Amino acid sequence: MSPAPLPPEAPPVEPAHAIDEAGGTPAQHAELAAVDTAVFDGVRERAAAILLRYPEPRSALLPLLHLVQHVEGYVSRAGIAFCAEILEITTAEVSAVATFYTMYKREPTGRHLVSVCTNTLCAALGGDDIYRAVGERFGGIGHEQTSADGTATIEHAECLAACDLAPVLTVDYEFFDNQTVESAVEIVEALKRGEKPHPTRGAPLTDFRSVELLLAGFFDDPAVGGLDAVSGPSAADESLRGARLAEERGWTAPAVPDGTQGGN
Ligand code: FES
Repeated sequence: MSPAPLPPEAPPVEPAHAIDEAGGTPAQHAELAAVDTAVFDGVRERAAAILLRYPEPRSALLPLLHLVQHVEGYVSRAGIAFCAEILEITTAEVSAVATFYTMYKREPTGRHLVSVCTNTLCAALGGDDIYRAVGERFGGIGHEQTSADGTATIEHAECLAACDLAPVLTVDYEFFDNQTVESAVEIVEALKRGEKPHPTRGAPLTDFRSVELLLAGFFDDPAVGGLDAVSGPSAADESLRGARLAEERGWTAPAVPDGTQGGN
């Protein structure tokens, strides 16, 4: 029996994302390195300030990627080329890092980033329903999609480390605790009207790009309203209740026996 003919070769598929995976060919990376980075000219001084914080330039990559997202709302091809140029590393190295961490976005982000925790505890307490309602109110969008009016990008989030306040969502990484479908929908409607509802705790809302400047380490920058505008209580009453009880009752943790630190 003669072997079945091979199917015709599939046409090459264009990458769906702005960032090629780190394993691009040398030619692809040479092309990427040559992308015009003029869009970042206004933040070159800030980039230089980030570099000064580290003994090795390559250690500055994470905050530099946040600076890129401050400018463009995501890590674009130009953003990768900019980081590679500033740090004198390859675009493959920048891409490898930018595609590893979920906080670096591969598509343009809306004015706000709404992250709904759908991990175990939040999901059990209604997180999935909240996620669905948020997507519907933004026009039927799903994970990492942006509403047609550009108000927000939504995403499923893994545990946001606020399980005692579940279910939770964050807007631009600020917390809205103890949510219901109704309260989440109110947040969405407020964002659509251009309002900035006050988070349950933490700093007042700004927007995704402003928060990216904070994450790049510019906490008191006038561009985000100065230090007062980004400060706020970070712990909820529920989280502190146990510590307060222990204090009132004089409870302390048992001393660690000599030589047992480090888990031995
Ligand atoms: S499971 Fe949602 S904050 Fe932990």
